[in-house]
Amino acid sequence: MVEVQSADPVKKRKKKKKPSLTQKFQRWLEETASQVEGVENPLLLPREFVGYSFQGDLRPAFVTPQMKVEPSIRVPDYHETGIPTSEMAARAQETIHIHTDEEIEKMRVACRLGREVIDIAGKFLKVGVTGDEIDRVVYKASMERGCYPSPLNYRNFPKSVCVSVNEVICHGIPDCRPIQDGDVVNLDVTVYKDGFHGDLNETFLVGNCDEDSVRLVKTAYECLQKSCDMIGPGCLYRDLGASISKIAAQNDCTVVKTYCGHGIGELFHTSPNVPHYAKNKAKGIMRPGHIFTVEPMINLGSNWKDDLWPDNWTAVTHDGKRSAQFEHTFLVTEDGVEILTARKGTNASSMSWDAAAVTRN
Ligand code: MF3
Ligand code: CO
Ligand code: CO
Repeated sequence: MVEVQSADPVKKRKKKKKPSLTQKFQRWLEETASQVEGVENPLLLPREFVGYSFQGDLRPAFVTPQMKVEPSIRVPDYHETGIPTSEMAARAQETIHIHTDEEIEKMRVACRLGREVIDIAGKFLKVGVTGDEIDRVVYKASMERGCYPSPLNYRNFPKSVCVSVNEVICHGIPDCRPIQDGDVVNLDVTVYKDGFHGDLNETFLVGNCDEDSVRLVKTAYECLQKSCDMIGPGCLYRDLGASISKIAAQNDCTVVKTYCGHGIGELFHTSPNVPHYAKNKAKGIMRPGHIFTVEPMINLGSNWKDDLWPDNWTAVTHDGKRSAQFEHTFLVTEDGVEILTARKGTNASSMSWDAAAVTRN
């Protein structure tokens, strides 16, 4: 085959118009820099942490001001007040919603867009990049897709994505700390589109990680993979925890109890509650049309206990050891499961190892 000479002027012009990912990133970096200007030292310990006794080596850094979404974006009820009123009203009832075909189609769209957003954010996750910059990437990618980044002001969460580094279990607030070589970083993305939320997360091994970290991340992935295999009509929600705990224990890891998977759809968090640990008493049987997340948080070692930092969001391991997590939004189908947040081009009915391999940055 002869290589086609690229003398086509139309093609050339097209190429010039679209900025490359790197160019876009450069612009985002510049915007971020202007946010941090005037802040004398972005790494200075925020006031509420002074005197706090930390669990491990990680320290919080400066958090830039909260962003507002463009007026064209459809917003959830909490976007202004921080209070998810409809979610709280639904708390009382335990019934699990059976989604209609139309609702399922909207969930497919929200979840696909959430997947696109996390894939973009993941590409930018490199040594030296800050959580704040990743947040800007997620914000922008959401706006470009006409999505509201669900974490933004949810129960007053300050940012558009959760960035959880090393001993942070979940709900890490993106700040101005640059990611370091050997960090394990979880990005948890949720987008709200056309009235529905799609929720997923992945843990990335950044640079040269130690053996324990690699084992931890692989184990967390395997825990979700095994859960995925179990999902289908008739499966008890309470049974997922036993297999997750077993895989964790086999790998000298343990399962966090405080935070659970959840029903999702028009509401960000709703029934069922999906614990990840063994011997839980979760209610409910899976039925076609149920949509929920599974998102096991796995700690190195045998201490499953979590602490909450004084920012009232950041959940960290009590012993300062590392924690990792993967999350998908799942639909129960007539004969099994559909992974609504599966990566494009990968199998939507079971989780392959390839999807995890790309989490090494
Ligand atoms: N995405 C998280 C979950 O998996 C929830 C984040 S809530 C936030 O349920 F407010 F921290 F963003
Ligand atoms: Co999530
Ligand atoms: Co979730």
